[in-house]
This record gives sequence, C-alpha cells and structure tokens, in this order.
Amino acid sequence: MSTVKQLHLLGFVQHGVNSHATGMWRHQRDKVGYHFSSVEYWQHMGRTMERGMFDGVFIADELAPYSTHDGNSDDTVKYAVQCPTHEPSTIVPIIAAATRHLGIGVTLSTMFVHPYSMCRLLSSLDHISKGRVAWNVVSSYSKSEWEAYGFEDITPREERYDRMEEYLELCYKLWDSWEPGAVVADKASGVYADPAKVKVVDHQGKYFKSKGRHFCEPSPQGRPVIWQAGSSGRGRDFAAKHAEAIFAVHPNVERMNEYVTDVNSRITKKFNRKAGSVKFIYGIQTVVAETKAEAQAKYDRMLSCIPLEGALAWISGHFGLDFSKMDLNSHVQNLEVPGIQGLFESIIYAKDPQGRIPVTVKEAALIYAQGMGMPVLVGTPVDIVDRMEVFADKGGADGFMLAATYTPGCFEEFADMVTPELQRRGRLRTSYSGSTLRENLLGADYETYEAVSNSA
Ligand SMILES: Cc1cc2nc3c(=O)[nH]c(=O)nc-3n(C[C@H](O)[C@H](O)[C@H](O)COP(=O)(O)O)c2cc1C
Repeated sequence: MSTVKQLHLLGFVQHGVNSHATGMWRHQRDKVGYHFSSVEYWQHMGRTMERGMFDGVFIADELAPYSTHDGNSDDTVKYAVQCPTHEPSTIVPIIAAATRHLGIGVTLSTMFVHPYSMCRLLSSLDHISKGRVAWNVVSSYSKSEWEAYGFEDITPREERYDRMEEYLELCYKLWDSWEPGAVVADKASGVYADPAKVKVVDHQGKYFKSKGRHFCEPSPQGRPVIWQAGSSGRGRDFAAKHAEAIFAVHPNVERMNEYVTDVNSRITKKFNRKAGSVKFIYGIQTVVAETKAEAQAKYDRMLSCIPLEGALAWISGHFGLDFSKMDLNSHVQNLEVPGIQGLFESIIYAKDPQGRIPVTVKEAALIYAQGMGMPVLVGTPVDIVDRMEVFADKGGADGFMLAATYTPGCFEEFADMVTPELQRRGRLRTSYSGSTLRENLLGADYETYEAVSNSA
C-alpha cells in the first residue's frame, strides 16, 4: 500500500486549433496527420490520456474571439489566439465512445443558456459517457463574449457570481428532482416512471424562473462533477461552496500554499464541508526528453513559435485591458484587471514569490503566452516528477492539469515517459478503481450532494 499522496491528472485543451500555448499550431510536431475538429483526433487524444492514466480531459472554452487588444479581434484571428475554437460539448460523446474510464470535463458558460437547458445537456452527456462528465462552471469574463450575444457591457463580477449562485441552485433542484426508484420500467403494467417520485420543480428566483419536470432520468452520477476556477475572493467562495475540484495557476510553491490555505479554510470553516472533499488541481506544462539538454532545446523551439502581437492579444483578452496602448517596458504590478484576476497573479509572482521584482508588459505577454503563467517543467521524466512531488507535498496539489503544447504529441510523450515515472514512485494509479469520474477523482473523499447543497 502506497503511503505517498497519489496524484490526479487532467489534459488541458480546447476544441480549437490552439489551446493554451500561443503559436503552437505552427510547431512542426503539432497535429501531424490530424485536423483539430476531426473525430479521429479526439478519439486519439482521449485514448492517449487514458493510456497515461489521466482522470480526465479538461476542455476549456470561451464563447467568442478576444477583442480587447486595440479594440478589435484582428490579432486574435491572425495569430490563432485560441481562435478558431469550436463548441466544446460536441466532442464529449466522441471521447466517451473512444474510452472507458477517462473523465470528460467541459467548460460551459452559465451566462447565455437557461439552467433548464444546461441541466438537460449535462444529464444527457453523463448518460452517454456512463457517468464520466464534469462541468467547469464559468460566467463569461470577456467583453467579446457579451458583445457577441448582443450586450453592450459585461455584468460586473459580483453580480455574475450572484447570478451563478442561483443558477446552480436551480440546477441542483432539477438534477435531484427524480427520486430513487422513480424509474419503474414495468412493461407489463405499462408504467415507465412513477410521477409521485418525479418532482415538478417550481423556481421563481431573482434571475431565473422555471416550472416543470427535469426531462432526463437520473444519470449515473446524478449531477456532473462540479469544477471551478474562480480565484477572486468571491470566486474562491463560490468554488469552496460548490466545487469538487478547483483549478488554479500558481508559479511557485509559496503562492500555491497561500491559495490552498485560504481556500481550505473557506471549504471547512465557512462552508462546513469535509476536508479533502475538494481536490486542488494546479496547472503545469511539461516539456520532456531523455536528456536535460534535449528538453531545453525542445522548449526553446516552442518559445520561438510565440508571436508577440498574439501574446499581447491574449493577455488583453484574458485580463480585460488593452495592452496595445501600453509601453512594452512599463510594469504590470499595479494594474487593476477586470478580467481573470487569479491568472494575472501568476504573472505578478512569476519572478519571485513576493512579487517584488517588477514584470514588464512584454515579459508578462511572453510568460503568459507559453502556458498561461503555469510553471513549465523542462527536463527528463525524473526532473519533471521531482518538481511535481514538491508541488504536491509542499504546495498542496492533489493533481495537475497539463497544458497542451503541441498535440497530440505532448500527451503521447507524457504517457510514454512521465506516467511510468509517476507510477514507479507510487504517485499514479496503474489501473482505474472507479467506474465514474467522481469515484476516480474523489475516491473515499466523495461528499454527498446533500452536504454540498446544504453548505452554508
Ligand atoms: C485555471 C483556470 C482556467 C479557466 N478556464 C476558463 C475557461 O475555460 N473559460 C472561461 O470562461 N473562464 C475560465 N476561467 C475563468 C474563471 O473560471 C472565472 O470565471 C474567472 O476567473 C473570473 O472569476 P474570478 O475573477 O473570480 O477569477 C479559468 C480560470 C482559471 C484560473
């Protein structure tokens, strides 16, 4: 029996030409023999992650091309800055059909879809995948998303979180509305379901109204596994209250510790949930090779693919500020960002754990462009697992989301080289123990829905 903490792994990707490493579509090893929107590509990605004993794939998403940079989306389109990105839930059944154990986490925004439709979609996907679906709950932080849906202005963060609270409240009501034993399926009597056990949900809230029965029978997991990545104060509360796995990006152990201490205290003290019932998953990027020198050469080649204008378009989009108007040598330390606050911190603290060494706009763009500010682990399998162990044992990581570089190659290399090293040290499963994503991700730490819903 292993005594070291076992780690969880997720592959962090988008249903698009380029995920979270800007310019990687240009790399000679990217998508060799595949188009990003093909069935074969996603089947192969899923099978590769399952071979590498990942818990799941994390499909990130946003709803429209970023347009903050210079007030337009030209550089976003020109340099493939997460653009084009196709609809994420369309690939869930493809990955599900190609795999048996891999979880499939899909990012779906609460902002422009009614909770009734969202619940139906997620229940259907959980059925199709036999209980392997997670939902990364987001509220659309980017102005371009709001404009694409016909709004002039973005709703401020606080109100987005208020609305999202009510959104989940209604989702929980719908998912839990079919009681155990509701499905009778008795061919002799002709009774399929017992209406006395299928509640009519009647929700009359501030933001949503809904009256009716959930249209899907209970799926294997009942509710999808809830994932969250909000990192402002309000976002941390939301995650601590609702999530079963939380995602964060921190450049060093000190920042990881600050985060895990704060969020754990919210989980256990503020929301009265069981310690360990929420998994902390940190972003990392790995560049692996047989020798350190080879890995460094690989990394240098990746960095040479980054276009500065594309990098600036990306940080403008993620942080909601127009960096095209700023001097490339000015410092970013004191900027107030309306966009993703938590990810901005990965830049502020990129050079030292106290954030005292200033970071220029140009440096910020280039650091961020390689992998959203995640620590980049470059080296042999031993070097990489050494660092992962430090993040796990000293930084509180329960697992990692691995940001794609070139695909599917980076996941093939991880499965071939890093997975065996993790297993050799007892850090990673050698077979899947559960049949659902929740069982694999949470194991004995699984907490009942009632406990989550009733948390203060
Ligand atoms: C690691 C990480 C991944 C994220 N992925 C997405 C995403 O795919 N789509 C999205 O709309 N927001 C994404 N976000 C944004 C958040 O979930 C959240 O909506 C945003 O950070 C604003 O909330 P905050 O200010 O509380 O952080 C991500 C954030 C982090 C830290």
